[in-house]
Amino acid sequence: MTTPHTIQAEYDLIFAGGGTAACVTAGRLATAFPALSILVLECGPTTKDKKEHIQAGQWITHLAPTTKTIQFHIGKPSEHVAGRPFVVPSGRCVGGGSSINFMVYNRPAASDFDAWEADFGNAETYEIDPKKSTHGSDGPLKVSFGSEVTQLGKELKETGAKFEKNRPESDECNAFDVESINKFFIMPKWISKDGRRSDIPHNYIYNNSSKKLFVFDGTLVNRVIVEDGVAVGIEYQFDNRVHESAPQDIRVVKARKLVVVGAGALGSPLLLERSGLGRKDVLEKAGIAVVAEIPGVGENYQDHAFLYTPYIVDPELKTMNSLLRSDPATWGQTFREWEESGTGQLGANYIDGAIKMRPHPEELPELGPDFLELWNSTLANHPDKPLIWASAVAGTLGDPSSLPNLNFIFSMSLLGYPASRGRLHISSSDPLAAPDFEPGFLSNPADVAALRWAYKKGRELYRRLPSFRGVFFPGHPKFPAGSAAAVEETAPVPLDAPKIMWSAEDDKAIDVFLRQVVTTSGHSAGTCAMKPFDKGGVVDSKLNVYGVKKLKIVDLSILPSNVNSNTYSAAIAVGEKAAVIIAEELGGSV
Ligand SMILES: Cc1cc2nc3c(=O)[nH]c(=O)nc-3n(C[C@H](O)[C@H](O)[C@H](O)COP(=O)(O)OP(=O)(O)OC[C@H]3O[C@@H](n4cnc5c(N)ncnc54)[C@H](O)[C@@H]3O)c2cc1C
Ligand SMILES: *[C@@H]1O[C@H](CO)[C@@H](O)[C@H](O)[C@H]1NC(C)=O
Ligand SMILES: *[C@@H]1O[C@H](CO)[C@@H](O)[C@H](O)[C@H]1NC(C)=O
Ligand SMILES: *[C@@H]1O[C@H](CO)[C@@H](O)[C@H](O)[C@H]1NC(C)=O
Repeated sequence: MTTPHTIQAEYDLIFAGGGTAACVTAGRLATAFPALSILVLECGPTTKDKKEHIQAGQWITHLAPTTKTIQFHIGKPSEHVAGRPFVVPSGRCVGGGSSINFMVYNRPAASDFDAWEADFGNAETYEIDPKKSTHGSDGPLKVSFGSEVTQLGKELKETGAKFEKNRPESDECNAFDVESINKFFIMPKWISKDGRRSDIPHNYIYNNSSKKLFVFDGTLVNRVIVEDGVAVGIEYQFDNRVHESAPQDIRVVKARKLVVVGAGALGSPLLLERSGLGRKDVLEKAGIAVVAEIPGVGENYQDHAFLYTPYIVDPELKTMNSLLRSDPATWGQTFREWEESGTGQLGANYIDGAIKMRPHPEELPELGPDFLELWNSTLANHPDKPLIWASAVAGTLGDPSSLPNLNFIFSMSLLGYPASRGRLHISSSDPLAAPDFEPGFLSNPADVAALRWAYKKGRELYRRLPSFRGVFFPGHPKFPAGSAAAVEETAPVPLDAPKIMWSAEDDKAIDVFLRQVVTTSGHSAGTCAMKPFDKGGVVDSKLNVYGVKKLKIVDLSILPSNVNSNTYSAAIAVGEKAAVIIAEELGGSV
């Protein structure tokens, strides 16, 4: 049996989990404090120099059922999602989500977390316009439109603005403000102009200048060791999913200064609970001694409910499908093009046209009574908050081989501030045991109402796109016979064609459909919230776990409330802010 990594007995800082935010923090601190020894333990594989993580267009390959870089977390079946066992993915590799995500560049509203606004922009270089005051110009992560913008994206932007008369076009919808709302735009990407994914490891870790930064893959952290109220180290074992023949004994490594948990919103609460930090009844049921009672651990789970629906488009419209359906010879040509110039399909993500949509006052009645409480509590007084992020992928999200040989696109609607909440707890002290996971999707009817509205808005727009050739009904609600929504169309209707008159039965069909198909965005957050202890908080505003010294959490589990955008930008902000906080505590700065 071979030991995959030589791990010393002690380091200054230990990171448990080597995902997005943790790698930002570790990389920043390694540069600022070259004398500091830093250990990062990640259960997934390394991504160093691997094409599937560098070539932007390979994002879709990580979703394959045989994937080794994504973990699928299986939730309990729920009546709210038609009895489905709801499945949520997260990155499982060095860099976590940053190494496998769809690279959509989206930033939240200023009101989502005002205090951190100043830190946004620090991490990026906005290649689209380096002089823009709302974006960074000298950060390690590149933001551009990638190697190509699809015709579909252009059609959505142009047709959208013509059809939705009070939702014009814009070239900036990520300025955190009211001006970013209700405009059609082309989505920037976390992709450099030369077609490379702007992940964290290749920009913060693998090119480090420190001799004392160690990032080890295939190493699973079992628990944090807390002695007399102080985190002194961790227990780990090598992960056989990465290092097949590694020894399986449990080992200990000590931290001189700090332990940072960065296992993600679906990992960190479980790690805390295995360490005796959490809800008393949960720990007792799993046979774990209580070290500190923290009732909020694992509660407050949030994600962005996500709807994607297929439309048939002109066979000539460029989509990802031809490559996804094609033989490896075609891939060879595409690989060569990327190697030579960073261009072609592998330098892009094929997600372009988008809008951050918020109902105008006169549209509120369309959302129905179930929606009003969410509107009043979360959106009404914050005009910078959108309800839905709507976009489309030029192709299928996954393997198209089970679909008929037509050209498809998928519309995407992401709910910015779901009212539903879930929870996640350990079921045993074994780190490989499946947890008790209740994702909670659609448990609040406001979320169904919001997505019903999004579905209808999408139908009206897509049937007007120049490339529209039909609704692919097997992927849509089962509308009653005779319904206007069930009429087959094979070509676009004029902009001023009458809108579909939705009946109460149509609405019911949409609601049934939503419960059957709504899925996750992979934007898990909130399970170790940064808020007061007596309000269910787990960490304080310096990211310290309540009741334990020298233990912080750095990942999206700390979000006390949601951000409307795709969450990579928020994870980077958490990582950058954590580096500032820890540097100050070490008596320096980053
Ligand atoms: C499929 C998918 C697509 C996405 N697309 C986009 C997008 O287009 N745009 C966008 O902005 N956002 C997107 N996101 C979201 C974004 O990538 C994530 O929100 C973000 O990366 C989360 O960062 P994090 O630091 O909280 O956790 P993560 O990056 O998930 O890091 C947690 C890490 O901890 C490791 N870990 C867990 N438990 C242990 C343990 N016990 N021991 C050792 N290691 C452990 C995990 O393997 C993982 O690497 C997507 C997410 C997914 C899953
Ligand atoms: C690593 O690369 C990024 C750009 O990709 C750069 O900004 C950063 O300074 C590099 N780090 C070191 C230590 O060279
Ligand atoms: C840090 O950079 C050096 C080369 O500069 C490299 O050998 C080492 O593997 C890097 N460390 C990590 C954790 O990637
Ligand atoms: C929402 O606010 C409006 C206007 O203040 C009020 O009339 C309505 O009763 C509220 N509805 C709910 C469900 O809170």
